[in-house]
Order: sequence, then C-alpha cells, then structure tokens
Amino acid sequence: MTPLSPEEEQHSRAVAETIRGRIAEAGGWIPFDRFMDLALYAPGLGYYSAGGVKLGAGGDFITAPELSDLFSGCVAQQCAEVLAETGGSIFELGAGTGRMAAMILQTLAEQGRLPEHYLILEVSADLRARQQRRLGCLPSELQKRVVWLDCLPEIPLSGVILANEVLDALPCERFIRRDADVLALGVRVGADGSFIEHEAPADRAFAAAVRNIESSLREPLPNGYRSELCTRVAPWIAGIAACLERGAILLFDYGLPRSDYYHPQRSNGTLRCHFKHTAHDDPLINVGVQDITAWVDFTRVAEAADAAGLEVRGFSTQAAFLLGAGMSRFIEEAADSVTRARRASEARQLLLPGEMGEVFKAMALVKGPVSPLSGFAVRDLRVSL
Ligand SMILES: C[S@@+](CC[C@H](N)C(=O)[O-])C[C@H]1O[C@@H](n2cnc3c(N)ncnc32)[C@H](O)[C@@H]1O
Repeated sequence: MTPLSPEEEQHSRAVAETIRGRIAEAGGWIPFDRFMDLALYAPGLGYYSAGGVKLGAGGDFITAPELSDLFSGCVAQQCAEVLAETGGSIFELGAGTGRMAAMILQTLAEQGRLPEHYLILEVSADLRARQQRRLGCLPSELQKRVVWLDCLPEIPLSGVILANEVLDALPCERFIRRDADVLALGVRVGADGSFIEHEAPADRAFAAAVRNIESSLREPLPNGYRSELCTRVAPWIAGIAACLERGAILLFDYGLPRSDYYHPQRSNGTLRCHFKHTAHDDPLINVGVQDITAWVDFTRVAEAADAAGLEVRGFSTQAAFLLGAGMSRFIEEAADSVTRARRASEARQLLLPGEMGEVFKAMALVKGPVSPLSGFAVRDLRVSL
C-alpha cells in the first residue's frame, strides 16, 4: 500500500487522538459504527469532513459519475421521465464533487425539462465547497436552481430524490457469531495506542436484529461468521421518504439481496477501505485518511421503504438500469469517432460484470402515481430481493 505522506500522517494522528479520547470517555471501547462515524465524519477531521481529495483519479476511489458522464446522462434521462409526469425538483444526497449534478442539469436543460430546483444535502463541508465551485461554473439559468440544504427539506417535494454511493457510506455495525451467541464488534485502544478490534456481548436489540436476519436465511450463520448490519438504513430511508410527496427515489450502490449478502461463503463480511486506489479490509489503520464502506443489504432497504410507505418499483443491476435508461443512444450520438470510442470504453467499465455492471445495483422507490420507469423496464434483468 502507498505510504502516508507526512501531512496525511499528521492528520491521521489528530483523528486517532480524537477517537482515543472518545473511547476513553465511553469507558474503554466503542461500537464499530461509532468508530466509523468518527473516522469518516468527525467535524473538520473525519475522512469526508476534512480536505483530502477523496474521489477521482488523484484521490482514493472512483465512483460511476466520476468515471463517466454516461452514468449521469442515463440518470438524467430517468429524471426527465419522472419530472415530465410529476413536475417539481430534484434532491440529491451526498453529491460528491457535484459532477453528476452538473451533468444532470446540463442534460435536462438541453431537453427543456429543467427541475424547479436542484437541492443538495451534503454532510461534508469540504465536498459542499467543491460542489459550489463546480456548479458555480454553470450558466446562471442552471446555477440559480441549485440550493444547498443544511437538513432534510421540511416541505415534501414532487420529483426525484437521488443518492449514488451514499448508503454504503452510512456507518454500520459489525458482528461475529460465536457458537450460540452474537457478539458486537467494537474498537478499543492497545498499549501502544493503536486501535484493536473488541468483541462484546451484543445488546438485546442488536442480537435480535442479527437473529432476524438469520431467520430469513436457509441455514444459520456458521460459528466465527462475521459481517455488517447497518441499522441507520431504516431511519435514513424514512427521512427521505417523508420528503417526497410524489415521485421516485433512485438509489445506486454496490450491494446484494440479503440471502447473498449473508451467504455462508461471505464469512468475512463486506467492509472495505479505500486508500489511493488500493482496497483492503483493515479500518483500524490510516484512520481519517482512508474511506470505509460496507456493501448495502438491499433487502433491508426494501423493508425500510415498505415501512415508510414507498413502493419498490425496481431493483436491477447497474448495467440493466443503464441500458434501460438509454445508454447506447448516448454513445451513438457522440459528435465524433474519438468521443464515441472513449464513451464505448467507459461504457464497458460501467456495464461489464467484472467491473461496475453487476455488483452495483439500482433501486427505484416510488410514492404516489408514477408510470413504469424505463431504467427498470428490462424485466429479465431485474434482481430478486
Ligand atoms: C462515496 S461518496 C459518493 C459521492 C457521489 N455521490 C458520487 O457518486 O461521486 C459518499 C457521499 O455521501 C455523503 N454522505 C454521507 N452520509 C451522508 C448523509 N447522511 N447525508 C447526505 N450525504 C451523505 C458524503 O459526504 C459523500 O459526498
């Protein structure tokens, strides 16, 4: 792995010091979700809150909108379809560098279908500043529609709510099965000040949540099996569901339906860390300068949606969504052969099963009358929950 620069070393030491303080205050250990929350979002210090590059070639990982505008073009196409029916606005959570927002606004402007507003809720002050710089370069007709929010909108909107790779960035809990017991995994501090994994009996609610998962599987989780469970999914979905009067919520992320997520062979969970384009599974190093993510249990998302009064309208691989939303047209319409060849190469990365096409999923949740969505029209390519 690439060694930390002196600045990264210094920053990571400051983040670790803060977390050690929180662990001491908590009596010697904290649950994993608390650790992840601090490592990613401690104000001014966490990975997303501080000023590191994060996304893109010069950062730690690449997302679909950063890889290619084809992705955002297809999302724009899906938004146009919904907005034609519902009118209203687009609301994006966790807009990263703002690249998808810019591309969506430009595409919708070309089609004469601009949303009333393009609302953004971003928890990272650093990324919000970057979004403001990027979207500040748009023509004023587009710029004036963009509004940054500090919390969820109080008045429900009609239109589309978007989140690409936000669910995987919500702090998650971790557990391990030890014979008949469920143990929660947490973090404590070793004698040399480093972070060490800590096992503790799960509280009643958490143990029940793990048993609830097990009851839906074909066989119980084997001894020593460890995985993740994100209890923040349900309140997050309920929160955005309450913001929608009529329209669609489009979620894109890497993840699986529950039976695959907790497959016996996936015995070490799905947690991944990203540092300078190297993926590894140790969240206790490079604290505050690496991303920490976990795959999404899309069955949990669907259950949360159901509880929040939303209809699960579609669940597909990213590849199926992009093809349904008209990606081939964006390639064919390229102005010249060089652009066409570049787009075709980007399309392969977005579509191929070994790249982003299969592990990334698209889910559509709708409220109120909304016609079938073209991104989810290819029935045979839908994934079962
Ligand atoms: C992996 S990045 C994805 C960024 C962007 N959507 C993209 O695809 O390039 C995760 C984003 O979600 C934001 N985020 C994390 N938790 C959030 C929350 N609860 N509400 C809104 N944004 C959140 C992060 O600050 C960051 O912008």
